[in-house]
Amino acid sequence: MTSTPVKNLLDPGFELTLRPMRYPDFYERYRDAIKNTWTVEEVDLHSDVADLAKLTPGEQHMIGRLVAFFATGDSIVSNNLVLTLYKHINSPEARLYLSRQLFEEAVHVQFYLTLLDTYLPDPADRAAAFDAVEEIPSIREKAQFCFRWMANFDGQGAEKIDRLESREDRRRFLLNLICFAACIEGLFFYGAFAYVYWFRSRGLLHGLATGTNWVFRDETMHMSFAFDVVDTVRKEDPELFDDALRQEVTDMLREAVDAELQFGRDLCGDGLPGMNTESMRAYLECVADQRLARLGFPALYGSQNPFSFMELQGVQELTNFFERRPSAYQVAVEGTVALDEDF
Ligand SMILES: [Fe+2]
Ligand SMILES: [Fe+2]
Repeated sequence: MTSTPVKNLLDPGFELTLRPMRYPDFYERYRDAIKNTWTVEEVDLHSDVADLAKLTPGEQHMIGRLVAFFATGDSIVSNNLVLTLYKHINSPEARLYLSRQLFEEAVHVQFYLTLLDTYLPDPADRAAAFDAVEEIPSIREKAQFCFRWMANFDGQGAEKIDRLESREDRRRFLLNLICFAACIEGLFFYGAFAYVYWFRSRGLLHGLATGTNWVFRDETMHMSFAFDVVDTVRKEDPELFDDALRQEVTDMLREAVDAELQFGRDLCGDGLPGMNTESMRAYLECVADQRLARLGFPALYGSQNPFSFMELQGVQELTNFFERRPSAYQVAVEGTVALDEDF
């Protein structure tokens, strides 16, 4: 009697078998994601336009930079999804989820495009926002960070890996996956969301906050899926998770925090009431520690989240999502808060 050899998740190929199902949890994640469908047309940006006119020059600068980051962020993630994740995660269940994620990233790109068209009526300003990835140093540095970890898979500036044949190939893949989940979706985007919710805590930019609620939920799920993939690979191939990998991931997160902090310095300038570089530093360090904890690695900073307006985000977003109504902004609470890992 012959039997099909058992394959591991990162073995090269395009596995087609859905029955018997080898990775049912990935299939369940796909089904869960379908329940969260939303459209850009549901987000009403009208009141944001009136709010924008009320902002101080410092706040306007912050919004300008934020939108410029949003202009290209999700497109970079989409490209990596196609070039790297879909290609090398060899499970039809996981590929169902990744197809759905690709759709969600397209909705995010559309949301931010609509946001740019609304916030920046001058076509020259819009073009400048899309150029930020080259022209604005604090945004260019974050983009370069992403491109460096993609390089092995898009062949831009590094030897291209077409099939994960060797242990080193699988390591490079894992580092790419962890970079996009922990540092890009899980840190750069979380930094951006914090600025949005800081505005919301002051009763401003509700349209942006509503769309952000839904993007936030999607990104949280993208990250959870990616970490599930990491867990599966760890189970199948524990030797990949050695001290060298831990060190590389820790260094990568430190670099991501530094890049996001430089962006924060650009956004905050000399500081705005309740938002400045030092509080952003503590927030990012706290988020980075959570990502390391999720990966089973020791914390790097031991910082506490200073942003009370992020505390209830998980619960509030869920309520809003199912009620399908714009968010009611919450009153800020004083002191430091714990950031739940489920966020
Ligand atoms: Fe996204
Ligand atoms: Fe995402």
